[in-house]
Amino acid sequence: MNAETAVPELAEPNLRRLLGTAGLDVEYVSGEGNVLHRRTADGSLTPVLDLAGGYGSLVLGHNHPEIVARARELLDARSPVHAQFSSHPYANELATELNRIIHRELGVSEPYYATFANSGAEAVEAAVKHAELDRGLRLSSILDTIAARAEEARTAVLSGAATVPAPVYERLGVTRPARDEDGVALLIAEAERRNTAVAGRAPVLLALEGGFHGKLIGSVQLTHNEGYRAPFAALGLRTRFVPMDRPDVLKEVMEQERGTLYEIRQRAGRVEVAEHDHPTYCAFLLEPIQGEGGIRPLSRKFAEDIQQFGRDTDCPVVVDEVQSGMGRTGALLASSALGLRGDYYALAKALGGGIAKAAVMLVRETRYRPEFELVHSSTFAKDSFSCHIALKVLELLEAEDGRAYRQATERGEALAAMLQRIGAAFPDVVKEVRGRGLMQGFEFHDQSRARDARLAEAARSGLFGYVIAGHLLHAHGIRTFPTASAVHTLRFEPSLLLTDEEIGLLDRALTDVCQIVREQASERLAVP
Ligand code: F0G
Repeated sequence: MNAETAVPELAEPNLRRLLGTAGLDVEYVSGEGNVLHRRTADGSLTPVLDLAGGYGSLVLGHNHPEIVARARELLDARSPVHAQFSSHPYANELATELNRIIHRELGVSEPYYATFANSGAEAVEAAVKHAELDRGLRLSSILDTIAARAEEARTAVLSGAATVPAPVYERLGVTRPARDEDGVALLIAEAERRNTAVAGRAPVLLALEGGFHGKLIGSVQLTHNEGYRAPFAALGLRTRFVPMDRPDVLKEVMEQERGTLYEIRQRAGRVEVAEHDHPTYCAFLLEPIQGEGGIRPLSRKFAEDIQQFGRDTDCPVVVDEVQSGMGRTGALLASSALGLRGDYYALAKALGGGIAKAAVMLVRETRYRPEFELVHSSTFAKDSFSCHIALKVLELLEAEDGRAYRQATERGEALAAMLQRIGAAFPDVVKEVRGRGLMQGFEFHDQSRARDARLAEAARSGLFGYVIAGHLLHAHGIRTFPTASAVHTLRFEPSLLLTDEEIGLLDRALTDVCQIVREQASERLAVP
């Protein structure tokens, strides 16, 4: 029972209690642009500058008037939200518009087919499910070919049209019998034995250390944070996590995971052994800028290394743009600036314009499996409301020849310049400022061994970033958080409506925080 209320707390009371330790358990009652209004202890409302931005969901800010107006139109028109298993022209219109923009940004013309979802994790899981369906069908096709060629070889030998040269037996470690008729059967059996073992291996998924792709049963296996993933590891996939900027590790993975499928065939009257690469890999997942993992941009070089790995191993690359996408870095796809061409894309968060739950998985035509449409769906996905809202979002991003993208770039540069200035003024406090566009990370040096006992204790317990967030909220009226998997890094992901005045407010607030940390003066921290 919560002391302040007569009703029992049944909606994640533990989380609210934890938020309360840093004064973050406040109630927001309205929001517009970058400003939320929260209820204070005396019941009045006070403005808060929201720089957490819905964890990247609010490229256009809270309750953008044109998006709210569109939502009203849809509701007034009684647009059917639940009209599953019917024609959804608005969904196709959205997929077509996404393709138009992606083709422009990537300089390609190959279509990307859309599967809609309700959240980022769902879009990621749809991509992985589709990739596994594709991998399984590719494997079946190879095994079918092998079986057919083996039958041809057997028939040819039995009819005397083919013989089995000695080296073929040596290749598969089969003792040569007196008759080739028996020999070809032994060779086929040995190849089947080996192929069954390899084909039965679990698919390999690759993701980057520090990566975050969701917390559902499948996506959590791809999320590097041990705390999120370990309790559920028994439920899921085999993921190998690759460190950033380590192409040598990619080569190790390639060697270690290589699998071979053997084919017994006959050519020009001689039986021979052919080899097929086993489709070992399900997918390689990456974020062009790691969000929850600490706002860490992927380097162009490593993006190219991963792309090359994907080509060398026929491993599809899933570009997770759930947080980095939708204009935040000055383009629909943050990865387009890296020269990265995904086999799959996941978009969500800001796709819903800050009011709809919308997500989409896009798969390039050369990998598309129409069968997937019959085995994957969701009650709420592809609904008229979220598709129309997402179309409105794209309309606002694309208006005036992409003014919104230019605005995001310019506002991001202004924000980054201010953060860099503070970083330069407090090198003893600030470890690094990094990010791109309106996705910026501000990393403090670890305070675990600080002179100030409270700062040290907060750092050792992983709460330093939250304590600072509480001070920013209560002393400066600014809302943000540390990235959950890199708790010394504050995330700044405001909408493109960010004003110079708001940047100035953050400037003063962070200067205050850095002075407190420099002077080890935690007594000046605003406590709830
Ligand atoms: N992928 C990325 C890159 C994300 O940042 C997130 C969520 C997800 C997938 C999952 O999306 O929450 O809609 O299911 N990121 C939040 C964060 C949790 O803290 O940045 P979801």
